[in-house]
Amino acid sequence: MSDFLTLGIETSCDDTGVALLQGERHILAELLSSQIRDHARFGGVVPEFAARKHLENLLPLVEAALREGGVSGRDLDLIAVTCGPGLMGSLIVGVQAARALSQAWEVPVLGVNHLEGHLFAPMVDSEDLKPPFLSLIVSGGHTEIVRVDALGSYELLGQTRDDAAGEAYDKAARILGLPYPGGPEIDRLAQDGDPDAFAFPVPLQHTKQVEFSFSGLKTALLWQVRRLEALGTEGGELPLADLCASFQSAVTRALIAKVALAVRTTGIRSVTASGGVAANSALRRALTEGTEARSWRAWLPRISRCTDNAVMIAMAGKSGWDRGLRSPEDLSPDPSLEIGV
Ligand code: KG4
Ligand code: ZN
Repeated sequence: MSDFLTLGIETSCDDTGVALLQGERHILAELLSSQIRDHARFGGVVPEFAARKHLENLLPLVEAALREGGVSGRDLDLIAVTCGPGLMGSLIVGVQAARALSQAWEVPVLGVNHLEGHLFAPMVDSEDLKPPFLSLIVSGGHTEIVRVDALGSYELLGQTRDDAAGEAYDKAARILGLPYPGGPEIDRLAQDGDPDAFAFPVPLQHTKQVEFSFSGLKTALLWQVRRLEALGTEGGELPLADLCASFQSAVTRALIAKVALAVRTTGIRSVTASGGVAANSALRRALTEGTEARSWRAWLPRISRCTDNAVMIAMAGKSGWDRGLRSPEDLSPDPSLEIGV
């Protein structure tokens, strides 16, 4: 194994992540400080607050990661930092810290596209996974399918026209009176529900484009809830488990339909998923055991690496560095960075 040491830094949204990677995939330290509980009381991520929390959390996490790995800053070969897309204030904290550490330790910095990080997440634990593959990125901010022909060679096959899948889960949870973030809560309640109890529309299921739309589904849920409330449901309580299971089923079928379309049109039969919604149990089941899944092999990151983390950033950074990518000394964040367009 090479001794190349990469420090990964991720601060694009509300999770502060720091990781220390040796060689291509050996993890010496992996630390995460989630702000979910801080933001839950506001019902969503508050950007200014997120930036302040990153500022508090980041350097202690870097120190802890180095300590855990038994190395000093000057031993590092590379600092890989998320430079977009994400929240401007949050990204600035990570990028500025990386630049300051780079100067202090005389270690180069490479800016990493957060979405490329997500493409790498399934590769962290699966050494066998090699391009070409199709990657479904499903998070709070993104829903897209990216074709990965080689590391560094990406093509965006299609994306959402409106809400991201995670955003749909979060908005649905709010309609149902459930706490933020909504996805895990809906996933949990859906375990005891009937996915066929309510026939929610499966958005764009039969179009010939790789595209998604979730805002109509959220509205359908809202109307269903209003109807049930007007009818005065039994005992005055909403049938939450059935509503969650049916909503989750519609989201999952919308995602699977387009994965199947992408597999058919590209002929690529390796499929990966990443982003918070890739932790969803119904989606994981459909990707690995569903009827459509017979035409592909699915590679999923472990649940903890579906959501934002710095291991995937470190790994994507090391790969980019090996491919000759370099960042300017005055690296600055780009909140609307895209991939494969
Ligand atoms: O990737 P991520 O941590 O942050 C972004 O980059 O957005 O994704 C967070 C999103 C939230 O919308 C959350 O509700 C959703 O992922 N999520 C889930 C599950 N766990 C997290 N959605 C459905 N089922 C889950 N189990
Ligand atoms: Zn993400």
